[in-house]
Amino acid sequence: MSVQDLEKIFQGKIDDEIKIEPKDWMPEKYRQSLIRQVSQHAHSEIVGMLPEGNWITRAPSLKRKAILLAKVQDEAGHGLYLYSATETLGVTREQTINDLHSGKAKYSSIFNYPTLTWADIGAIGWLVDGAAILNQVMLTRTSFGPYARAMVRICKEESFHQRQGFEILLVLSTGSKEQKEMCQDAINRWWWPSLMMFGPHDSESTHFDQSMKWKIKRKSNDELRQNFVDMIAEQVKVLRMTLPDPELKWKEKTGHYDFGEINWEEFWNVVKGNGPCNRQRLEARRKAWQDGQWVREAAGAYSEKRKVRSQAA
Ligand SMILES: [Fe+2]
Ligand SMILES: [Fe+2]
Repeated sequence: MSVQDLEKIFQGKIDDEIKIEPKDWMPEKYRQSLIRQVSQHAHSEIVGMLPEGNWITRAPSLKRKAILLAKVQDEAGHGLYLYSATETLGVTREQTINDLHSGKAKYSSIFNYPTLTWADIGAIGWLVDGAAILNQVMLTRTSFGPYARAMVRICKEESFHQRQGFEILLVLSTGSKEQKEMCQDAINRWWWPSLMMFGPHDSESTHFDQSMKWKIKRKSNDELRQNFVDMIAEQVKVLRMTLPDPELKWKEKTGHYDFGEINWEEFWNVVKGNGPCNRQRLEARRKAWQDGQWVREAAGAYSEKRKVRSQAA
């Protein structure tokens, strides 16, 4: 069969909403695009554990500690599903992780911002996990089977993450004057970076048209960002807090909130590795990999031993 025929069958499946599975023929660019996207997503889950892990030992109560621990463990699980999904595309886990450590692969820039107070843990759950959910709900319908299926379970856990974050802020927002200020300050610092999570404007987004045609993505960056603003602008009222944007305004005519322009210079600067914590995050990951070397060796030796034993039996 010619490549043109194979491409026709491939696009036909996508148009008919049939999932593409690892053993199916797929254009090399589709494969590469997914390797980049799914591995970047996996890295984001794993690096995302770092800013929150920072507060596990300092959580204000045993209950809060247990909840945060469970949340951070969920993120580790998301990373593992997604590394496995990446492997189904024909790359090894080692390669993928090497690309993170060498700085070749990206992860979500949001995790290059520091967590300064306990309220930041609330703001992350509410805003960062909240933004992630919108993207991930869309991805439950992505065209590559293993990625879509991983997203179904991940989304269930993400909605718990968002609610726990909101609840942390709700408690602070009804607390002392200092607690209220801490709550507002965290919202002020996390608001703009979480809008940046949706990526550049559609007009600037390099992979957009192709991703839509292949149904890797189902909604554009700007569309998802608008959904997020509309949702958060309402929820913030329940907290009796404000969003740090003087241009935020409900528009009856469009049925959406208008909002101000993102500082794109800051966005690209963090993407390029110059955010407040980029270096620290990568160092933490590299160190974790080195510290885990003996565990990987022991696990490898154990499975080798079992293999020999089962062959002998
Ligand atoms: Fe996650
Ligand atoms: Fe999460």
